[in-house]
Amino acid sequence: MFPTSSTVSFFFFFFLISLAALHGGDGASHSKLRHGYYSTTCPAAEITVKKVIRKNMISEPRSAASVMRLQFHDCFVNGCDASLLLDDTPNMLGEKESFANGGSLRRYDIIDEAKANLERICPGVVSCADIIIMAARDAVFFSGGPDWAVKLGRKDGLTASLQDSNDIMPTPRANATYLLGLFQRFNLSAKDLVALSGSHSIGKGDCIGMVFRLYNQSGSGKPDPAMEIGYRKRMEKFCPPWGAISNVTVDLDPTPKVFDNKYYKELIKGKGFFNSDQSLYTLPETRKYVERFSRGEKEFFEAFAKGMIKMGDLQSGRSGEIRRNCRVVNHHH
Ligand code: HEM
Ligand SMILES: *[C@@H]1O[C@H](CO)[C@@H](O)[C@H](O)[C@H]1NC(C)=O
Ligand SMILES: *[C@@H]1O[C@H](CO)[C@@H](O)[C@H](O)[C@H]1NC(C)=O
Ligand SMILES: *[C@@H]1O[C@H](CO)[C@@H](O)[C@H](O)[C@H]1NC(C)=O
Ligand SMILES: *[C@@H]1O[C@H](CO)[C@@H](O)[C@H](O)[C@H]1NC(C)=O
Repeated sequence: MFPTSSTVSFFFFFFLISLAALHGGDGASHSKLRHGYYSTTCPAAEITVKKVIRKNMISEPRSAASVMRLQFHDCFVNGCDASLLLDDTPNMLGEKESFANGGSLRRYDIIDEAKANLERICPGVVSCADIIIMAARDAVFFSGGPDWAVKLGRKDGLTASLQDSNDIMPTPRANATYLLGLFQRFNLSAKDLVALSGSHSIGKGDCIGMVFRLYNQSGSGKPDPAMEIGYRKRMEKFCPPWGAISNVTVDLDPTPKVFDNKYYKELIKGKGFFNSDQSLYTLPETRKYVERFSRGEKEFFEAFAKGMIKMGDLQSGRSGEIRRNCRVVNHHH
């Protein structure tokens, strides 16, 4: 029996749909993220990343903070697509030298190490974008913070943008009003903002982000009055006025290797490191969470994990690939 015109168009219709599906699968304008994404294609993916994080934290405890910060700086700029990791090329200025990132983001080599190990066991399968997400989770957990299940299946972006990083990433001088608005653009709430800022419970900051608060807050020629005096005196020793042009680094809170809620207790005492930190204690909407998280570490941990998952859901809507080397896009023939 010959196919009728209606069965022909029926099959042609399906042919078109499958083309669209194939195209969408690769183009991934919106990848469907899920738990256990690599459970058949690369079952050792998560354990492989964990081992690399663990190993590096033993040789440098601060590496946990440096690696977890990468998620924030990747996901806010055109979604979690590892655009952050692309090196500059003659045709493209990437994000590594933006105001917020240059000379400050560090330990990209740890992501490279995890990628190299994954390429050995399952070549071409695990995206760099997913490695960042796994690494951030592991770094927080191994620092004594919460654990959470990560959704995976991201694609690596084909481009990066210096301009976008400069436009989006906040400076340490930002105040809570500004930060609320910025986070809102990504559907992140006041609670998310305060919880995610609690990542400053680990790691270090350069005096550059702090000196203006010590010597010239908002152009006043005076220190930030919100700063507790003993803390200020201590910081003045670490960060003298010429600190603005040095690269002295200072612990962000009293327990910089332990992910805990001490950060919030310090804010209440006027001992926040950056303006962006201390300012969270000024507005009622954010202050409320500073108080709650300072009293209840469990609530902080839960809100933090939720915030990281929400941030990890941000996608670029652009096409992507599984990069072989996190620093360069694959060579296309
Ligand atoms: C809310 C606005 C934020 C601002 C203005 C901000 C700004 C900064 C600055 C200026 C530094 C010090 C960098 C340096 O001196 O080299 C820093 C460090 C850090 N930030 Fe943020 N940050 C913010 C939010 C976040 C978020 C949401 C995360 C992660 C979820 C995060 C994670 C970290 C970590 C872990 C460090 C320490 C890094 C290290 O020791 O290498 N920050 N941040
Ligand atoms: C907060 O920062 C914004 C943008 O930088 C500025 O316009 C505003 O005046 C600041 N608010 C306060 C209370 O300092
Ligand atoms: C925020 O949520 C709105 C409504 O659900 C959605 O249309 C928008 O795309 C979201 N924005 C981001 C950056 O995810
Ligand atoms: C403080 O900042 C203001 C505005 O940014 C500037 O005009 C002034 O020269 C600065 N003062 C000092 C002592 O650096
Ligand atoms: C900053 O640190 C680098 C490497 O640790 C060093 O080579 C450089 O001289 C330092 N710069 C200043 C201004 O102290």
